[in-house]
Amino acid sequence: ARHLLGIEHLSPEDIRTVLDLAESYVSLNRRTIKHSDALAGMTQINMFFEPSTRTQASFELAGKRLGADVMNMGVAQSSVKKGETLIDTALTLNAMHPDLLVVRHPASGAAELLAQKVNCAVINAGDGRHEHPTQALLDALTIRRKKGRIQRLTIAICGDIAHSRVARSNLILLGKMENRVRLIAPPTLMPAGAADLGCEVYHDMREGLRDADVVMMLRLQKERMDGGFIPSEREYYHRYGLDAEKLKLARPDAIVMHPGPMNRGVEIDGELADDINRSVIQEQVEMGVAVRMACLDLLARNLRADRGRQAAGEM
Ligand code: CP
Repeated sequence: ARHLLGIEHLSPEDIRTVLDLAESYVSLNRRTIKHSDALAGMTQINMFFEPSTRTQASFELAGKRLGADVMNMGVAQSSVKKGETLIDTALTLNAMHPDLLVVRHPASGAAELLAQKVNCAVINAGDGRHEHPTQALLDALTIRRKKGRIQRLTIAICGDIAHSRVARSNLILLGKMENRVRLIAPPTLMPAGAADLGCEVYHDMREGLRDADVVMMLRLQKERMDGGFIPSEREYYHRYGLDAEKLKLARPDAIVMHPGPMNRGVEIDGELADDINRSVIQEQVEMGVAVRMACLDLLARNLRADRGRQAAGEM
């Protein structure tokens, strides 16, 4: 494919290809010299219209470790603040001949819209409530490494499902790989029609956690609640916060995941989040760099092949 816009466009074979290549980058990243020249001569621009720590830092590191020239566009200091639109901003940057454009935007569909306007490969780094494909891929790599497989697992995704692009991308990926997915949330934070998505729906966290292999916790995304109902944090933690006591309902070897940023004492107990026997949150961050290297590498290969075919056609 030319772009990475969502898990919905990937086949199980595509997903395995990304994860297998990412494994080789996990090894590279653990070496003293972490350099490859897979993106030598290429330019990568990161455009983040929403805050980010993990995704932006890992895309920047990934591009640099692969030898690309990487530019982070500072949206706060850009002409976006003077009213320039997303499309005009992208067309302006496109005129500088980037090869890869990484975009995060609060509007669902923003990455797809950009992909129709620019000549380079576009990677969706999170668009509104729609998708966060590289998060689902790094979660899949983390699960595969910890559980030895990414099929036939029972995975409980718990929290603010309604506003979560992470939940959506994970739900699609885990479904494609034939896992049993449970969504756990209060009725106000469960999307309408969740039961039709091929997963099991629970409002009682204790029921939903029973015998799960993986427990994936999500943050309350207050920035997307548009003045709607926001639960009290105390009450929410009591009913939907994960602690060691509730985790006992899952399988004894169940792993605890969180995409970050996390709010300790709201959706997860701080000590449990730091418990290296159960929590794989730091591994998720490590896998994030490797998965983003694999995605950039695969898109760059496709871009070179496209350009090669175009050049051959022009001769
Ligand atoms: N998980 C995730 O997308 O984190 P950031 O918002 O820090 O990038």
